Amino acid sequence: MRIVIGCDHTGVALKVALQETALAEHSVIDVGTDSTDSVDYPDIARAAVAILRKGDADRAILICGTGVGMAIAAGRHRGIRAATCSDPYVAEMSRRHNDANVLCLGARVVGYGMAESIVRTWLHADFDGGRHARRVEKIEGTA
Ligand code: RB5
Repeated sequence: MRIVIGCDHTGVALKVALQETALAEHSVIDVGTDSTDSVDYPDIARAAVAILRKGDADRAILICGTGVGMAIAAGRHRGIRAATCSDPYVAEMSRRHNDANVLCLGARVVGYGMAESIVRTWLHADFDGGRHARRVEKIEGTA
């Protein structure tokens, strides 16, 4: 799968850890940041979302301190369904019921092992469609 990943200064270490584990077998585009110098998460979200909306990636993973700011910023863009997930169950359901195309993680919330499980679960779960497709269409304004 083609994945675009980005983080602010709080998420650099987790981003690197995920690239070495849960993302190792995927094609990853990294939009930064790469240091602990403070950056603004909306800038990173915008860069990742642009690649996703252009069709150059299938999904995006965004990391900030809580996963909340990234989800709010990414969710402003049409066609983006961003979900902040702190456990594998929510990650799975965000795919099956909400067709989430952006996973947001809180580097100050989840440990590396939990984040790895969340990412693996999220990448392998498919959208259930059916009644959920109608609901997603309503979010998108196409139903
Ligand atoms: C940065 O301090 C922090 O505000 C940011 O990483 C994120 O948690 C915002 O939602």
